[in-house]
Amino acid sequence: MTSDLIPQRIAALGEWFHNIELRGHHTAPHHFLGDYPAIKWRQFADAVPADLRGRTVLDIGCNGGFYSIAMKRRGADRVVGIDWDERYLAQARFAAEISEVDVEFRRLSVYDVATLREQFDIVLFMGVLYHLRHPLLALDLLHEHVTRDLFVFQSMLRGSTEITTVDSDYPFSEKAIFNAAGYPKLHFVEHRYSRDQTNWWVPNRAAAEAMLRSAGFSIVEHPEPEVFVCRHAVISDAEPRAVYPAS
Ligand SMILES: C[S@@+](CC[C@H](N)C(=O)[O-])C[C@H]1O[C@@H](n2cnc3c(N)ncnc32)[C@H](O)[C@@H]1O
Repeated sequence: MTSDLIPQRIAALGEWFHNIELRGHHTAPHHFLGDYPAIKWRQFADAVPADLRGRTVLDIGCNGGFYSIAMKRRGADRVVGIDWDERYLAQARFAAEISEVDVEFRRLSVYDVATLREQFDIVLFMGVLYHLRHPLLALDLLHEHVTRDLFVFQSMLRGSTEITTVDSDYPFSEKAIFNAAGYPKLHFVEHRYSRDQTNWWVPNRAAAEAMLRSAGFSIVEHPEPEVFVCRHAVISDAEPRAVYPAS
């Protein structure tokens, strides 16, 4: 495709959330968060291996493909990007084509990752948790079905950034602990937040960390306020967890 046709194709693919430079043309130059997600990526890029040769990557909620393309540029053997929104997938396919990288983009919900029947060395789960009505279910499914080693997680966080040390149990009469600023809390959005009706549960920092641990991820790095780099851990406790659809 000649470079002068690229702006037309960018416009024809609708409004972009990812600002990606395609041969000198930007897909979302007026993004409300600035040059997004490049500004976010710069804050945690060093926490992801620079050389991904020999590794596989799954990018969940890949959107316009920014992170999928970045992973492929680091040499990943195979990158699969999944998203539920066909418009974003069309953008991602176009961005990858113009960037001349080979990424497999598929329409798949995070709740259906078991159908991939594959575990990936690196799983990116960036900016999706708070868009889900069932966030812990998603984390449980990711742990069980697709994560093998690194799990790179990002969420919008609101509320306190404090972490209260929580005991393993409390008597029924204990009530004050729930009012501690650093107790894990999920804020439920019944209507909209930031004019977006797909924001449902917004954790504080303590809740994000606690949910990751509870789903079987150990946090190894916290390179940016919203980003947690984790490793898939073996769940060794005998605590019962939610039952969810086997598929
Ligand atoms: C805020 S964007 C984040 C995009 C990108 N991961 C990033 O961090 O820049 C959220 C993305 O998650 C996708 N998404 C929302 N619910 C999903 C679901 N159930 N399964 C897969 N993707 C989903 C949306 O379509 C959107 O592309």
